Amino acid sequence: MMYATTLNEPGFSPHSLNKYASLMASGNGYMGVRATHEEDYTVQTRGMYLAGLYHRAGKGETNELVNLPDVVGVQIELNGAPFSLLSGHLEQWHRELNFATGELHRSVVWQAPCGAHFAIESRRFASAAQPELFALRLTITPLDTAARISLSTGIDATQTNTGRQHLDETQVRVFGQHYLQGVYTTQDGAAEVVISSFCHISGEAQSNVTAKNRRLLQNSALEVAAGERVTLEKITWITWSDDSRRESATLSGQSLQALRECASRGYDSLFSASKSAWRRFWQRSRVEIEGSDPRDQQALDYALYHLHIMTPEHDERSSIAAKALTGEGYKGHVFWDTEVFLLPFHLFTAPDVARQLLRYRWHNLPGAREKARRNGWQGALFPWESARRGEEETPEFAAINIRTGVRQKVASALAEHHLVADIAWAVIAYWHATGDERFMAHEGVDLLIETATFWISRATECNGRLEIHDVIGPDEYTEHVNNNAYTNYMAHDNVAQAVHVARHFARGDEAFYASAAAFLQHLWLPECDENGVLPQDDTFLAKPAIDLTRYKVKAGKQTILLDYSRAEVNEMQILKQADVVMLNYMLPDRFTRRECLANLAFYEPRTIHDSSLSKAIHGIVAARCGDVPQAYQFWRDGIDIDLGEEPHSSDDGIHAAATGAIWLGAIQGFAGLSLHQGGVKLAPRLPAHWQKMTFPLHCQGVAMRCTLTHQHINIEAAASVSFWLYDQYVTVEGEASFALSDFILSAAGTATTEGLCSRKP
Ligand code: BGC
Repeated sequence: MMYATTLNEPGFSPHSLNKYASLMASGNGYMGVRATHEEDYTVQTRGMYLAGLYHRAGKGETNELVNLPDVVGVQIELNGAPFSLLSGHLEQWHRELNFATGELHRSVVWQAPCGAHFAIESRRFASAAQPELFALRLTITPLDTAARISLSTGIDATQTNTGRQHLDETQVRVFGQHYLQGVYTTQDGAAEVVISSFCHISGEAQSNVTAKNRRLLQNSALEVAAGERVTLEKITWITWSDDSRRESATLSGQSLQALRECASRGYDSLFSASKSAWRRFWQRSRVEIEGSDPRDQQALDYALYHLHIMTPEHDERSSIAAKALTGEGYKGHVFWDTEVFLLPFHLFTAPDVARQLLRYRWHNLPGAREKARRNGWQGALFPWESARRGEEETPEFAAINIRTGVRQKVASALAEHHLVADIAWAVIAYWHATGDERFMAHEGVDLLIETATFWISRATECNGRLEIHDVIGPDEYTEHVNNNAYTNYMAHDNVAQAVHVARHFARGDEAFYASAAAFLQHLWLPECDENGVLPQDDTFLAKPAIDLTRYKVKAGKQTILLDYSRAEVNEMQILKQADVVMLNYMLPDRFTRRECLANLAFYEPRTIHDSSLSKAIHGIVAARCGDVPQAYQFWRDGIDIDLGEEPHSSDDGIHAAATGAIWLGAIQGFAGLSLHQGGVKLAPRLPAHWQKMTFPLHCQGVAMRCTLTHQHINIEAAASVSFWLYDQYVTVEGEASFALSDFILSAAGTATTEGLCSRKP
């Protein structure tokens, strides 16, 4: 197995500083550190975040992921002039993130305005072996003549979340010559952060330490001969606690001790331990492609790198933010993105992590119950956006209209309720993929009954049936509608699965079963028309459609809102993102291939794809329908959301859901993995230019390795495991190879899913 791909920043450009700061971020699920340069640039946004560390700055604000004091910045002066790539002349440039090792490396040759040349190189990583550890090494070599080099670095607490300061500086200390420590408390006093840095410069440097204006800095200067190099090694230990019984002195003392141990080992030894941990991750998760376009492999490696560094495997009270730990977008809040776009990767590669993400929701059931109660419903209504404690964190208002002073309310917290069923869907997926009875008998069944109870109370009797009124489906350009098909079908599935699981584990009382039965019998499920098109909601099909071409070419930028108000958009057939198509993806057993094709054909021209959650899902549904070229195009478009040319789309963080969807597209689209009541199904349909695809798959507690070509499917299984292969139910133990020619494929070149997998044979 090779782990070779990298992400390279093609050149230095102030326009794309923040994009690459997000894309090349370092992290380990505990911390995320934006890939900002050591030297400052006015437009550059520095950022370091800890999973689960949120704070509310003041009245009218919501909790946000705290941007911590910076430890990356180094002010470099060469012969008295500040080093900046905006001055002098950049003669050589190389910047690369190595996915295999997690190390970010930059190497430049720069001619200072005075004419002297310098080689400047830096390396850094957040340790995959020790979550609190971040290390950096900077080397400077004067190339022509001796030079005076000054370096200032330390812990810079002037950092804010775009102007909002969350932390009080409680204490700054220096221990000996090389150890600096800052202790910070969130302004509500709830959490304490301790940042300790060891800064060591090779050679005979003159150094002092200053603590001024929230900056604790070690300042060093030395003369360096031509061709000699000076190296700064900076090792940082970052820890925090929100335990009200914590002892500040203990936390800071332990941090210093841990840092001393790391410092005695040095960068190379610490990096080697981190590399080994990364190797284990790649061994258990990497998807390998043999094909003619190397960008496909790179995209998958990029996705898995970020999926790993965004996931707080160490803490089940934290989940994954919509921009991961790479920026301040969406204030670090957790959406349905986690359960639907991110959890499946873990489910099939490290199911324990998927369980932990579900336990985050389970811990937050009290907040969800409270939200339901406050709104007059029962059961659990999870917050549309959540942080650590699971309360509703959606900002109340969107941007202000500066001419009228009127602020528009954000409707999602009030009506975007499908998230409840999405969480239940993820619980069921977990059940079908793992068969984990222990989790299901306890947390699983709690989550299912509470979410089902919400839907039962949420439905309204109308037109002689039960309807669900005033909701927003996944398409956020269509607000406050009745009987959104996605919501109704997903709610129905939620309740049906809850009944099934509750009976299996002898949970749920008679009142629950009776009300669930009435709900399942009477809930209105919108029906496909004669062409197979499923109405998005009660009124959608009666609205006028407009030509969206000019908005679709700028997908993701929400340019439609420059020409039309939200209210006007609401009255037209305009989708922000997949909605009925999303439903076709979520519940593949409920729709035929003909219906899926009809919905793709009808809704896609009406969809701008202004949300990053849209294109990849269209791609998977297209792949399942056998249209692989179109599926591939959607998949690549989804990749380009972060990895494309646009310089600013990822400034405030990567799109975590779109990143998860790179894996989803490959595994659920091209390898054709889907989950059904009767188990897991594989129905591969590789893009023509992929000769081979290999990936690990965890299924029912058994580790498998799947190798797909256009002729064969090869499975290695560590123990006996049964699953669907197209329309056949197979059992594999050890190694088995299947010829594709043995399967009856439909005319479109793919086996259909219709009704095949609802039961085991
Ligand atoms: C999308 C939501 C998504 C959120 C966070 C919004 O633009 O419409 O579906 O959950 O972004 O990614």
